[in-house]
Amino acid sequence: MEKLQGVIFDLDGVIVSTDDCHYRAWKKMADEEGIEFDREINERLRGVSRMDSLEIILEKATKAYSDAEKQEMATRKNNYYVELIGALTPADILPGAMDVLNWLKEHGIKVAIGSSSRNTPIILRQIGLDGFFDAVADGNQITRSKPDPEVFLLAAKLLGLDPAVCMVVEDADAGVEAALAGGMRVLGVGSAMNNESATYRAETLEKADIASIAG
Ligand code: BG6
Ligand code: MG
Repeated sequence: MEKLQGVIFDLDGVIVSTDDCHYRAWKKMADEEGIEFDREINERLRGVSRMDSLEIILEKATKAYSDAEKQEMATRKNNYYVELIGALTPADILPGAMDVLNWLKEHGIKVAIGSSSRNTPIILRQIGLDGFFDAVADGNQITRSKPDPEVFLLAAKLLGLDPAVCMVVEDADAGVEAALAGGMRVLGVGSAMNNESATYRAETLEKADIASIAG
């Protein structure tokens, strides 16, 4: 394997846990519409774009919705979500994330964000990491959701690096698949720690031995 020169972090579930905010916002919208929605269905939304997430939720709908209605529902959910993430602070950064980020920077390895979320700029500001990363690729700049590698390929390009010298850190199976499809090695954490396709696996960033992974 070529020497590691850049690490691309997924945001939700890797740097910060926004899972519960996403769940509560979708749940409120689904309850208003009388659509069954629970934490098990929520698990399927990990790494999936906003509109694709809505389509998964609508599998339980008892009526058909027009495109305009779907747009309104996604906007309504996002308004609830933006209100909830307004309460995020640097204390919500997941254990181990800052240590890994600082270690990489100290060792001359570039760091980037590769997230499907269009709310990435708000979240980075809330947790005090605005301007910290060498590159940020997010849902505002891409057209294809993970498992398509588009967001990670864009992040590598913004870092000026070949995918072969980059590693992705992901908590979603769709993200692990996307990283591999983009020709990158991948560290699976959280829900992706049991993903056998991942190059490396760890329960959390706190438990990951970044020095040995980086070689
Ligand atoms: C991903 C989350 O990071 O972003 C998904 O894991 C979410 O659950 C997706 O649906 C899109 O987020 P947003 O903020 O653009 O609605
Ligand atoms: Mg994630």
